[in-house]
Amino acid sequence: MRTIIYTGKGGVGKTSLSAATAIASAKRGHKTLVMSTDSAHSLGDSLGVTLGPDPVEISKNLFALEVDVLVEMERHWKEVYSYITDLLRSQGMEEITAKEIVILPGMDLIAALLLLENYAHTKAYDVVVMDTAPTADTLRLLSMPDVLRWYFDHFFKMQRRLVRVARPTVGKVMKTPLPTDSFFSAIQLLYDRAQKVREMLSDGKQTTVRLVVNPQKMVISETQRAFTYLCLFDIPIELLVVNKVLPSQDDGAYLAEAVEEEKKNLETIKETFGEVPILYSPRYPREVLGEERLLQLASDVFGKNDAAKIFAALRPIRFFTRGEVKKLSIELPYVENEKIEVVTRGDTLYVRVGWHRRTILLPYAYVGTQLGEAKYSGGRLVVDFK
Ligand SMILES: Nc1ncnc2c1ncn2[C@@H]1O[C@H](COP(=O)(O)OP(=O)(O)OP(=O)(O)O)[C@@H](O)[C@H]1O
Ligand SMILES: [Mg+2]
Repeated sequence: MRTIIYTGKGGVGKTSLSAATAIASAKRGHKTLVMSTDSAHSLGDSLGVTLGPDPVEISKNLFALEVDVLVEMERHWKEVYSYITDLLRSQGMEEITAKEIVILPGMDLIAALLLLENYAHTKAYDVVVMDTAPTADTLRLLSMPDVLRWYFDHFFKMQRRLVRVARPTVGKVMKTPLPTDSFFSAIQLLYDRAQKVREMLSDGKQTTVRLVVNPQKMVISETQRAFTYLCLFDIPIELLVVNKVLPSQDDGAYLAEAVEEEKKNLETIKETFGEVPILYSPRYPREVLGEERLLQLASDVFGKNDAAKIFAALRPIRFFTRGEVKKLSIELPYVENEKIEVVTRGDTLYVRVGWHRRTILLPYAYVGTQLGEAKYSGGRLVVDFK
């Protein structure tokens, strides 16, 4: 299995290039899977298809998926997941928050790598294209097997022994739960598989990294750093793709088309963020580097306002639980007699009031739940999830 990993600074075009590469590869006759490991998935948007945690066949030879950490955790790491969630809850953390937080310390990255290892193992595809999160996260992803080894050698082995001794006595009196044996077995398995991934990642006949860059100073320096770290981790570098190069000749039509497209997107922004104040700044012909240009930017954004003033302090959306019911409350001022419609699709909640539509991305803990009752009062809409 040939694995191509696209990496680069935020917004340079990793997702677009991953999708483009996969489509072209499939057309060539390679059975191709493109997978997004970025928890802020946009691969589905790029391909114009709704994706989930399992491969979806998009066209002949072309498959795509978006790694869903929560699903992966529940499928393969239930022990680890429930232990850490219990631990956080025992420390007084709200359940929803605990569930989200467990995901953060690298579990998403591990889930993605293990999935990759699984596909390599089952030889299900000829080519896998990985669309990753911005550089820093991807470097963490690629170094994860090494990090795991360190933890395993220095921490888990010792802790496992300690817990064996402590469980019969301490376990009975302490509020804090102790990890179970199956927790440790799960970690052991995870460690073993991560070491296999490590071998895959440094074998240039199987896996290579393509760096995406834009012709901008800030992007270039981050890419240089990524380059160094990839060398440090001994991961083969294959290509540099310079994306978003401006056309050398412009007859005016280029700009006109860009402006037209932007208008629609500006409208969407207004719909999405509710009452949050919005400020604007232009796209300058040059990069915003140095004091003079930074001050120009500040003056364009904030005008005569103090840039440090408090423009607002809103909590437009709140997440909380009441008993077994997860709740979401949204600020929706000025609704009078209009009908409010509430619909979920995948990880998105759509609220329609008259002509207005709000799109709210749901946290992991809410995905896969059933939409319950929705009530409007006092300027807020409260929606139940069961
Ligand atoms: N060559 C290009 N010309 C114009 N727009 C582009 C080009 N490449 C990408 N884009 C646009 O730039 C935006 C960011 O691209 P994309 O999502 O592919 O980047 P990314 O590196 O995956 O971003 P992220 O770091 O957020 O994952 C998208 O709106 C995409 O359509
Ligand atoms: Mg992306």
